[in-house]
Amino acid sequence: MKFELRNVTRRFGDRVAVDAVNVEIPQGQMVGIIGRSGAGKSTLLRMINRLQEPSSGSIHFGGLEVSSLKGAGLRNWQRDCAMIFQQFNLVPRLDVMTNVLLGRLNHRSTTMSLLSIFTRDERIMAIAALERLGIEQTALQPAGTLSGGQQQRVAIARALMQAPKMLLADEPIASLDPLNAKIVMDALRDINEREGITVVTNLHTLDTARSYCERIIGMADGRVVFDGPPRELTASAVREIYGSDKDGAGIDETMTSTSLKPARRAEAAPSAMIAETAVMR
Ligand SMILES: Nc1ncnc2c1ncn2[C@@H]1O[C@H](COP(=O)(O)OP(=O)(O)O)[C@@H](O)[C@H]1O
Ligand SMILES: [Mg+2]
Repeated sequence: MKFELRNVTRRFGDRVAVDAVNVEIPQGQMVGIIGRSGAGKSTLLRMINRLQEPSSGSIHFGGLEVSSLKGAGLRNWQRDCAMIFQQFNLVPRLDVMTNVLLGRLNHRSTTMSLLSIFTRDERIMAIAALERLGIEQTALQPAGTLSGGQQQRVAIARALMQAPKMLLADEPIASLDPLNAKIVMDALRDINEREGITVVTNLHTLDTARSYCERIIGMADGRVVFDGPPRELTASAVREIYGSDKDGAGIDETMTSTSLKPARRAEAAPSAMIAETAVMR
């Protein structure tokens, strides 16, 4: 099913955070959103799962108008469209297993009380999700005692428990070291490829977006200024996204400093290499 943003704008007072964005995403794509800080990336993602409301425009998924959903319909959408965050958003004092099971909450009625009511099947599903992410041995530990990389894997396992149709990730690797960043990006890609779940992720490193995403959306000042495959992201496109102040202030040096490469499907067109060198200055 196709996902679509139609002319979506979000204002905060006088400031236009997202400016008339039109995007169509077919089911199963892996999309990276890049842009400098303040470009509107987080606001865009948050509107997709209705953590934030558009000021104007509409959001659609198949025949469903997401932007007008209320009540149970809205809860169902938020279940179908799981989100993970830079800061993981786990409940630190609860054990890992319970954090993962919380991903099932939107599948059950709110009148059922917590914890004791998870079924055997749900517990099996939670263990399977933890195994898939290679962290089943942490199941009984308080989530707050895990490393950042492990916590983000717990967050992904929790998202999987929602059986989502879309997975949104807001800078999921920004707080992680390169090894854990790779593990997390490989996990997102595996979910995208094996389950056919659409993944839309904000990324602050250009080379990660190039390596992992079949499609890159570049934002600047709330607008989409690039939308295409990595091979079309030339030096001038990169400059339009990140700006070209002569002191390079628009360009976050970490953007080009990692060498994250996926386990498979490494794609680096020569023009892409040139573009990266160009912005390093
Ligand atoms: N809740 C908010 N209230 C006021 N301004 C906001 C709010 N959220 C975001 N903004 C503003 O909207 C713009 C886009 O922010 P954001 O979507 O967080 O960008 P990014 O994720 O690309 O860094 C920024 O100017 C930011 O200050
Ligand atoms: Mg952001």
